[in-house]
Amino acid sequence: MNNYIVSIGDVALDIFSKIKGGLCYATDTSAITSIHPGGSAANFATWISRIGAKSAFIGRVGNDFIGDYLMKDLKDEGVLLNVSKGSGYTAIIIALIDKSGERTMITHRGESVNLSLEDVDFNLISKANLVFIPAYSLFTGKISKTVLELLSFVKGRSKIISKIDLHNFKDDLPNFKKSNFYKEGSHREILDNHKEYKNKSPLIAIDLSSYGGIKKYGPKKFENLLNSIRPDILFCNKDELMTLYPKVNFNEAITESKNLSLIIIVKLGKEGCIVNYLDENAKENVFRVKAEKVKVVDTTGAGDAFDASFCYKYLKCGDVKKSAMFANSLASLVIAEYGARPKIGVKKNRYTIS
Ligand SMILES: Nc1ncnc2c1ncn2[C@@H]1O[C@H](COP(=O)(O)OP(=O)(O)OP(=O)(O)O)[C@@H](O)[C@H]1O
Ligand SMILES: [Mg+2]
Repeated sequence: MNNYIVSIGDVALDIFSKIKGGLCYATDTSAITSIHPGGSAANFATWISRIGAKSAFIGRVGNDFIGDYLMKDLKDEGVLLNVSKGSGYTAIIIALIDKSGERTMITHRGESVNLSLEDVDFNLISKANLVFIPAYSLFTGKISKTVLELLSFVKGRSKIISKIDLHNFKDDLPNFKKSNFYKEGSHREILDNHKEYKNKSPLIAIDLSSYGGIKKYGPKKFENLLNSIRPDILFCNKDELMTLYPKVNFNEAITESKNLSLIIIVKLGKEGCIVNYLDENAKENVFRVKAEKVKVVDTTGAGDAFDASFCYKYLKCGDVKKSAMFANSLASLVIAEYGARPKIGVKKNRYTIS
């Protein structure tokens, strides 16, 4: 259970409906509809595994076939699961896409928000290389309290360990296939064991996830929360950064954000990303890394693929710029196909119902 990159949060079924005309209220609207596995934390875990590192996902599903389908999918992707099952529904996100490409999202986070401390395998998290938390897992629900407890448990960790030798997941594959992680209760640690692991030190990476989520939570309150967590790596996009710092311009917001984390990455869609980090001499570095030129098909999940590839590369080489370049290039492959986790290079990877 050592050296996993662990992601905590939502796994969801994404339903995309491409509507040709407008939505016809109270009657039929014809659409091309497809389903895809999604959820920010689960997307991250999938990309980590596909890139070739040991990947684990901590989350919760409902007691329905959608949860079973999503778990099978993650298992087939080679992700180690610490997933509990509640009596409610699994998360479903419906995206209505009009002919201009504009998306209207109908979100149901279901059992995802009910993740409790008792569901979590502390052994897995305390021996991780890196723990990834989409801010969705901090905004609301029982999961937010659970994640804060987990973070206080891993606190006291030493900062920035670069050049960690990631063990290839494939070494563990036979064990994993036989494991019964998905069975309720089989993986639980006794929480009194915490102290045993107090000297372990995974890096913490947070993605700000949603400007709407920050707005609802309260930007100042959320800034204070981030200050108390002090992540090692902080990902956001421009809207999320500007929501966090509503009173200043973009450049000032980038400067202000350096108080939150040692490495800040602001994702800018086709403009690539801006990186702001303190190097080992405590010197501040701010620079932009260009995106790849690519024909956009669907940008869903580009941010999650970016985060996963950045974290992987950073753990591997400790070089922020190289990691950002790697992240831009994986994200560009993701947006060239439908769904958050397209099987790049594999055709017919979609389940389409017209
Ligand atoms: N039009 C594009 N052309 C090239 N690369 C792109 C484009 N859109 C996104 N990307 C790549 O994907 C990365 C992440 O996308 P984006 O900036 O939209 O982040 P995000 O808002 O977190 O995404 P998400 O909506 O998935 O949460 C970008 O930094 C860039 O590398
Ligand atoms: Mg994002």
